[in-house]
Amino acid sequence: MLVWIPFADGRELMGDLPDGVTVDVWDGSDNLPAGHDRVEVLVPPWWPKAAVTDALARMPSLRLVQMLNAGVDWIVDAVPDGVTLCNAGDVNAVEVAEWVMAVVLSHLRRLPGFAAAQAAGEWRPALTPTLRHRRVVVLGYGAIGRALVPMLRPFDADVTVVARTARDGVEPVERLPDLLAGADALLVVAALTEGTRGLVDAELLARLPDGALVVNVGRGPIVRTEDLLVELTAGRLHAALDVTDPEPLPPGHALWSAPNLVLTPHVGGGTTNFMANAFGLVGDQVRRLAAGEDVRFRIDPAAYR
Ligand code: GLV
Repeated sequence: MLVWIPFADGRELMGDLPDGVTVDVWDGSDNLPAGHDRVEVLVPPWWPKAAVTDALARMPSLRLVQMLNAGVDWIVDAVPDGVTLCNAGDVNAVEVAEWVMAVVLSHLRRLPGFAAAQAAGEWRPALTPTLRHRRVVVLGYGAIGRALVPMLRPFDADVTVVARTARDGVEPVERLPDLLAGADALLVVAALTEGTRGLVDAELLARLPDGALVVNVGRGPIVRTEDLLVELTAGRLHAALDVTDPEPLPPGHALWSAPNLVLTPHVGGGTTNFMANAFGLVGDQVRRLAAGEDVRFRIDPAAYR
């Protein structure tokens, strides 16, 4: 079984592999190396995206496309029929949820303001809000939402979860406008699908009370950038974004200098645990495939349409 991975460092993190499994590296360069017709498992590089999606059609032996991360929005439509697509499930979800906690707590306890006072050599105490008793709406209940909610609860936050389909403890997305009217923070941890693209628009943002926080660690296009910019510039809302639209954010884009915004360059899952978490899963998936067992974290393409 031929497996292509994007980084050589991933090989040893995959652990022991059965006889007959060969692992080679393809970094996404345009010239597909020899052997592309024999690749059975592809762990795709994240860029250049067009080279990767084109390559999928040139891998006739492909059985499994195994992502290193959660989001599959850019690749799901390019995976040929009959080929399994799996994301990284929950292997990195705790770390992404941790980023959300970091920006929420930093915002509420006004750490950026205190850091500015420190830089100015000023001792400026102030009362700050706290997560305790704040009303938090979590949008999305995949692996990241399921990691995040239990982190919020010990802080005594008042948490409401919203997702496409209502289920026990989860409100349907149709209720979002009403729920936002009473929310101190909206935490977007959803996948980018046709249902979530542009979902958080001017109308929804206007439902949030003055001073509320919008956090996006899902995908940039879920929140309409222009609409968010209006609210940030007016000083009515605050935001913390790990993902943007467009992404990467081009030089000179208005978000760079927007007030009331903390911006990080898509590093929610980018921790020193990432490689071991992700390639540990790749090794596990390859062992399952080699043993004729089912793989984990299959993606249903219909959920993205
Ligand atoms: C990060 O962006 C992910 O998709 O896991």
